[in-house]
Amino acid sequence: MTIIFGHRGAAGTHPENTMPSFQAAIDLGADGIELDVHLSKDGIPVVIHDETVDRTTNGTGYVKDLTYAELQQLDACFLFPEWSGKASVPSLEQVAEWIRPLNVKLNIELKNDRIHYGQIEEKVISIIGKYTLESRVILSSFNHDSLVACYHISPHIERGALIHERLYQSWEYAKTIPAASVHPYYLSADQSMIAESQAHGVMVRPYTVNDEQMMKDLMKAGCAGFFTDYPEMAVRIRKSLKN
Ligand code: G3P
Ligand code: MG
Repeated sequence: MTIIFGHRGAAGTHPENTMPSFQAAIDLGADGIELDVHLSKDGIPVVIHDETVDRTTNGTGYVKDLTYAELQQLDACFLFPEWSGKASVPSLEQVAEWIRPLNVKLNIELKNDRIHYGQIEEKVISIIGKYTLESRVILSSFNHDSLVACYHISPHIERGALIHERLYQSWEYAKTIPAASVHPYYLSADQSMIAESQAHGVMVRPYTVNDEQMMKDLMKAGCAGFFTDYPEMAVRIRKSLKN
């Protein structure tokens, strides 16, 4: 079965990377959620996509220059004015506590490909351990050195290598990290790439798939999973294919 991850929650219809967005993704039937993590000025793993708060909140500045207390004061619903005031920037720990009793997966993307966050791997893995989420978490990043660091800290937590472009034999590359999965930009994952990779034991989960036909094609190709801003659409399509 193709596993459906709500990208930044249900980012097509809710303020991305907020608790209401995560709750919506699960309520809509997603098998898991994806979120992005940076470190605040005081070293707290916080859930937000960009290096700055400018696009998604009513604040300005780099996440790394704001304390967690300051981030909590921000309105993270800037992209969905109708949600204004209803959600702030969550901490990873807040999400971990919420997801613990739910039988769903959690893809934590470490957003350390542009900014170096000291010990982000240790801090994130410590939260995963505190809430015993090891078997349900996938750690992903465009920073593959960081994934290697994760492997050395906790080899049993799955790692997914995010890739922008198509790689030659990406499954061979994934094994060098080692990573159990590759998460390619959706246009660089075609049926042969998916089939070959998965035949070599490396799962493929493209991002971000928001097109109905593409969802169908990926499901028919036996793709391990994908990330979508519209989990409801993906769940509906998966049900229709089983009929
Ligand atoms: O983890 C999949 C996807 O989220 C990677 O790209 O920029 O949406 O974080 P981005
Ligand atoms: Mg992401």
